[in-house]
Amino acid sequence: MRTFTLRRAAFLALIVVLVGFTFTGASAQARQIVNVYSSRHYGAMEAVFVKFTQETGIEVRVSQGSAQSLVTRLEAEGAQTPADVFFSIDAGGATLLAGKGLLAPVKSEVLTANIPADLRDPEGRWFAVAQRFRTIVYNPAKVKPEELSTYEDLADPKWAGRLCLRPATHIYTISLVASMVAALGEEKAEAVVKGWVANKPQMIDSDTRILDTIAAGGCDVGITNHYYLARKIAENANFPVKLFWANQADRGVHRNISVMGVTANAVNRENAIKLIEWMSEADKGQSADVSGLAGSNWEFPVNPAAKPSEILAGFGEFKIDALEFSKYGEFQQKAIDLLGRAGY
Ligand SMILES: [Fe+2]
Repeated sequence: MRTFTLRRAAFLALIVVLVGFTFTGASAQARQIVNVYSSRHYGAMEAVFVKFTQETGIEVRVSQGSAQSLVTRLEAEGAQTPADVFFSIDAGGATLLAGKGLLAPVKSEVLTANIPADLRDPEGRWFAVAQRFRTIVYNPAKVKPEELSTYEDLADPKWAGRLCLRPATHIYTISLVASMVAALGEEKAEAVVKGWVANKPQMIDSDTRILDTIAAGGCDVGITNHYYLARKIAENANFPVKLFWANQADRGVHRNISVMGVTANAVNRENAIKLIEWMSEADKGQSADVSGLAGSNWEFPVNPAAKPSEILAGFGEFKIDALEFSKYGEFQQKAIDLLGRAGY
């Protein structure tokens, strides 16, 4: 009797294990996923990914790191990378990875139709999905907009002790300086950065804290990405910091992009393409409602059919420095070296 019970129990346990195994196997096969390496830092699971999963059933698995560290990781992992999609907040990394053969060309009529030609790689290895502008912000109680003009002018001694800037280690600073190297040449760009340093800026490694410091009277002028101010204004319409579009009389304000590319060895390549296509659609990833990049993070859409959010419209029209994105990668190391030499 006892033996029979034990045998029956063992048999039932085997059935449970087999059923469990089959079920797990089947669900793993049915589960659609896409692995994303993201250098974005606006919440581990962005609203756009949540919405994408709701609409397509494809699960987005995000691994986060800094823009530079993800490039290093993809280079080190090579063909073994678990990443299907590279998603960065800087054009430099994407163009460098594309140059090294680590992003694969994608041919997609959806992407060609949704994203203007100057905002994607001609070979389809990366696609901008949003635009961000790094510009001058100021305390209107301390500074008149007529006193402001260019990034270069912030090297003038009249700004001594009045600036809040982001340290040299951050990619936002590196790409801004890379764009100055492209526009002015290395020598002039270095003189400007030395002028900033001579003005003894407060170095603050957070655009949000730069804005808070200006609002609290800790400094008069800073340089931040536009969407951090938009976020502050969304929380408080009377936030006491204003945006000034830099370099409007010459090359225009410094632009960077939120950029996506499919990795060269993506296991889930079809899902990776689906995700980037979804991100480019005016009523999906581009939307100004809370589930789109324009709505959740106040970035400017790339798809001309999408409207930027109301707060952005309030910043007015402006001229963009249309520097080719390949230059961001090309001048990245020069910018890092220059910042070091200038003691920034
Ligand atoms: Fe940011």
